[in-house]
Amino acid sequence: MAVLRNIDEQLTEEFKKLPIDYWDFEGEDTKELTHGLHNYPAVMVYPIYRNIIDIVKRHGEVETFLDPFMGSGTGLVEGKLAGFNKVYGTDLNPLAVLLSKVKTTVLKEDSVDIQDKLLRENIEQAFVSSKQLLDNIDNYIAEKGLDVSAKDGWGSDAHVILREYLDTYNSGLKIPDFKNMGYWFKPRVILELQLIKDIILQIENEDFRNFFLVCFSETARYVSNTRNGEFKLFRIKKEKVADFNPDVKIEFYKYLDRNIEKIKDFDKRCNNDCEVSVAFEDTRILDSVPDNSIDLMITSPPYGDSKTTVAYGQFSRPSLWWLDLELMDIEELNQVDNNLLGGKKVDKDFECELSSRTLEKAIKEIKEKDLDRARDVYSFYEDLDKAMESITKKMRHNSYQFWVVGNRTVKEVKLLTNEIISELGEKYGLVEVYDIPRNIPNKVMPSRNSPTNETGKTVSTMTNEHIVVLRKDRE
Ligand SMILES: C[S@@+](CC[C@H](N)C(=O)[O-])C[C@H]1O[C@@H](n2cnc3c(N)ncnc32)[C@H](O)[C@@H]1O
Repeated sequence: MAVLRNIDEQLTEEFKKLPIDYWDFEGEDTKELTHGLHNYPAVMVYPIYRNIIDIVKRHGEVETFLDPFMGSGTGLVEGKLAGFNKVYGTDLNPLAVLLSKVKTTVLKEDSVDIQDKLLRENIEQAFVSSKQLLDNIDNYIAEKGLDVSAKDGWGSDAHVILREYLDTYNSGLKIPDFKNMGYWFKPRVILELQLIKDIILQIENEDFRNFFLVCFSETARYVSNTRNGEFKLFRIKKEKVADFNPDVKIEFYKYLDRNIEKIKDFDKRCNNDCEVSVAFEDTRILDSVPDNSIDLMITSPPYGDSKTTVAYGQFSRPSLWWLDLELMDIEELNQVDNNLLGGKKVDKDFECELSSRTLEKAIKEIKEKDLDRARDVYSFYEDLDKAMESITKKMRHNSYQFWVVGNRTVKEVKLLTNEIISELGEKYGLVEVYDIPRNIPNKVMPSRNSPTNETGKTVSTMTNEHIVVLRKDRE
């Protein structure tokens, strides 16, 4: 392991020279290679990671890389492409874990073609042998007088109704049983999804099985009754449900075609021995990463608690309900957001005890306006502080941390997370090297959303971002 040097001056020089729009990436294709395999909320576009990595590599040595809020794995893919020895990522959303694994796994072009052909043949066969089952389901539901857009009846009992239907055909097709399944999925859609899923699950090779599950996950989201383009879980209007009849197989093939191109491109571009560790783990713990081992960290943490900012868990539910990932029981899936940073409110009589004067001032102002919101906000920063402590423990002396953070406004009080991070880091031996402001024309997230969860109610939550560069100044 090479000794890391302090390269503050060189980095500062470079950052100063960069044009103001250097970090905008407006109009660029940010979905190349495996970056485009699956949607995810608030993805940080890959050129940010790539450019930071290039700049740091020009001046210093990097062998190990960490993204402790890896999300869909953008940073891990870039770390692997950069050819580091070891790349680590953690996240508490099971969907993030699956996506990060698949996006960083090279599949050989020849094998991809073979597996793809086999999969399609098996799907076609299954659809032919289940033709009657699929063609008659809508009549069966209509004859029973069920309204497929109703919350009660089909909405709540879809599992029981479908089981009875399948029994009339002596079909052994297993169907999932998550809460309000019929509210989110139509009858034929459920049967078709299950047929495809069963075939994918028969694939023995785990890497291929996971790759196809990612295609399936995008499909499940798309063919569900959820509104596209929303991160929170809202259903399409009741009156639109009856006419929404997606062809599950066609949609699946579309995602498959797209993703096969991307995974093949990744194979062409990525031929190195970089080892990737993807862990389902809380950033406040980070047992999966050895102490004093990381040379470079780049991450975009959440902007605040999931409830009032970006609901990663809620976004992932239509996929997670179907994926049977072993990381969590089906009942726990609806709790993902509560486990993320800021997921649990602090007590009503809390005091601001974190070492940041900027935060203290903001909390005081929010508290005067709305104690409840102040509890959410403080809880987020308390968790972020814990995450900074555990991350820094994993980092080496003179290693660099790049925090890409958004400053949001709560109760008309601006939360200067860039300054707060820098102040919180001091007690862990972190020094601020530079603070780069950036516009976010490309950020895949709404700048307005509804903190109250009410459809149509919007407030501005975020306008710009900062890349805060910190160096660990302690052995
Ligand atoms: C802004 S997103 C990261 C996006 C990522 N850079 C990408 O390109 O997809 C923040 C991520 O932090 C994760 N997260 C929030 N709290 C966490 C915690 N306590 N431990 C681990 N991950 C957490 C969320 O699940 C989410 O995936």
